[in-house]
Amino acid sequence: MTNEKPEFWESAFINKQEMLGFEPSKSAILTNDFFVQKSIKNILIPGIGYGRNAQIFRDHEMAVTGIEISKTAIDMAKKHYGTGMTIYHGSVIDMPFDKHQYNGIFCYALIHLLDANDRKKLISDCYNQLTDDGYMIFTAISKEASTYGQGKLVSKDRYEIFDGIKMFFYDRESINTEFGKAGLFEITEVTENYPFFLIKCRKGHQ
Ligand SMILES: C[S@@+](CC[C@H](N)C(=O)[O-])C[C@H]1O[C@@H](n2cnc3c(N)ncnc32)[C@H](O)[C@@H]1O
Repeated sequence: MTNEKPEFWESAFINKQEMLGFEPSKSAILTNDFFVQKSIKNILIPGIGYGRNAQIFRDHEMAVTGIEISKTAIDMAKKHYGTGMTIYHGSVIDMPFDKHQYNGIFCYALIHLLDANDRKKLISDCYNQLTDDGYMIFTAISKEASTYGQGKLVSKDRYEIFDGIKMFFYDRESINTEFGKAGLFEITEVTENYPFFLIKCRKGHQ
């Protein structure tokens, strides 16, 4: 099992509340444009937080379901964005939470928090919940980040940056290795608070 640290996220949301504001991230805006273009209607957001990256999809007529480890974040999402979204309380490690097939999955800044086994499981669990014509988009921190190499080395490219919080830093090679069999067709770079990769996969794409 991984270092999921539910208590870390719980206290982060209790202490810092709406720490990331209410604007969607750049990656969410780009993903929304892409999903609109592909007529995606039904999406899953693992690690949805308090929903700042969800509303843009709902504003474009997509139904959103989330998964979130912090109960406080789920309560905040309900307070700010209403009760129209199903958000499962639990860890993505325990996916699937339902038997639905989604035609879009957006997973922002979560996968790099997991260890190698759990990253692999998340990618395959997401892939399995896609419809035959579905797309999944992940964002993940890049080795170009200034924080790369700081903290205690845990394994190749993975560092303990705060107490118990470990991060895996991606490059194109590790993205190809991990997503290559999950329909990977495009890798782009996007700068959020750190340099990130936007990783696009399509079901059935080899
Ligand atoms: C870096 S934050 C991104 C939050 C959100 N997507 C946003 O930007 O508004 C990671 C999110 O994933 C959640 N999280 C972390 N580990 C998780 C896990 N194993 N399962 C589900 N959610 C998790 C955290 O509570 C947090 O909301």
